[in-house]
Amino acid sequence: MAEYLGMWHARGASAWYDVWWEALAELRAGYGAVIGAGPSEIALHASVSTATSVLASTIDYDRRYKVVTTALDFPTVAYQWLAKRPAGIEVVVVESPDGISVPVEAIAEAVDDRTALVATSHVFFTTGAIQDITAVAQIAHAHGALCFVDAYQSVGQVPVDVHDTGVDFLCAGGLKWLLGGPGIVFLYVRGDLVQQLVPTVSGWFANERQFEFDPHEIQWHSDARRFELGTPSLAAVFAQLGGLEIIREIGVPAVRQVVRDLVDDLIMRATEAGLRPKVASDPKQRAAIVMIPNADPANQVRRLAAASIIADARPGHVRLSPFFYNIKEDNVAAIEILKS
Ligand SMILES: Cc1ncc(COP(=O)(O)O)c(C=O)c1O
Repeated sequence: MAEYLGMWHARGASAWYDVWWEALAELRAGYGAVIGAGPSEIALHASVSTATSVLASTIDYDRRYKVVTTALDFPTVAYQWLAKRPAGIEVVVVESPDGISVPVEAIAEAVDDRTALVATSHVFFTTGAIQDITAVAQIAHAHGALCFVDAYQSVGQVPVDVHDTGVDFLCAGGLKWLLGGPGIVFLYVRGDLVQQLVPTVSGWFANERQFEFDPHEIQWHSDARRFELGTPSLAAVFAQLGGLEIIREIGVPAVRQVVRDLVDDLIMRATEAGLRPKVASDPKQRAAIVMIPNADPANQVRRLAAASIIADARPGHVRLSPFFYNIKEDNVAAIEILKS
């Protein structure tokens, strides 16, 4: 961020043609590397909402008019298609029997030959449960549908090899486990799909000849930049490059190891304190989101903040999210406040 501000003072927007342009290319490559994808499979976006709106615009819904999602997914995903209901799109929401995860069998039952897309999460934002996205992709493909995964709550804390999973599209970004802050995300599009898809929501960054400024025609990029829109926030790009450097230096598998230990410890302490944490029963399916049921979570979040513990509130729960920079003493301090 300091580097960005220094450049903004010294050069203003003239940094555009060299440093900024290179920063965008570096970020596409960096995002790709963290999920095992190539830079040509990565489009930069401002939010999951903008990324999914472009993705939603590439699909032909004439014969396949259904989109399957789940009750535990972050709702901005469903909104892309709920907004298209007047155009005949049907959104099928698969419910969660325990409020923690969604059985893949229930998703399999909802998908049929009229399904265009299965859109769901890797890690559920209100439970931390890790979903088997390889199985979900297989279910979608068995019916000729595509599979989109919102991995905003997983990339950076849970290892992802996107080609191994077989998913067609995947989103993640700076605001959560990649330490980049708001305003910058990526959309992965499987390499062999890129040139088959043409967006109907677009902008000048999708145009291979963008600096010819020709309003008569779009020459689509042959790589995933064809799914981009307009000028990215370069301040957010620089923040994300810094965050990615930290994640790359440690490595996601090492992060995962430390975080699993912290999460198990936090769940144990919360359980002992009688706080009944709502988490997946199988420890392997737990990411670093630990939900503590509470009648007034906003008040608890304020009490934690007063002790310099940053947590968040979701309906009926306090959300604790230990990461690699935490230590078990942080867990002790948080639980002490929540039980008093
Ligand atoms: C899983 C998940 N997806 C998406 C978002 C946010 O979407 P957007 O980038 O459109 O604000 C969040 C939370 O901020 C989230 O937890």
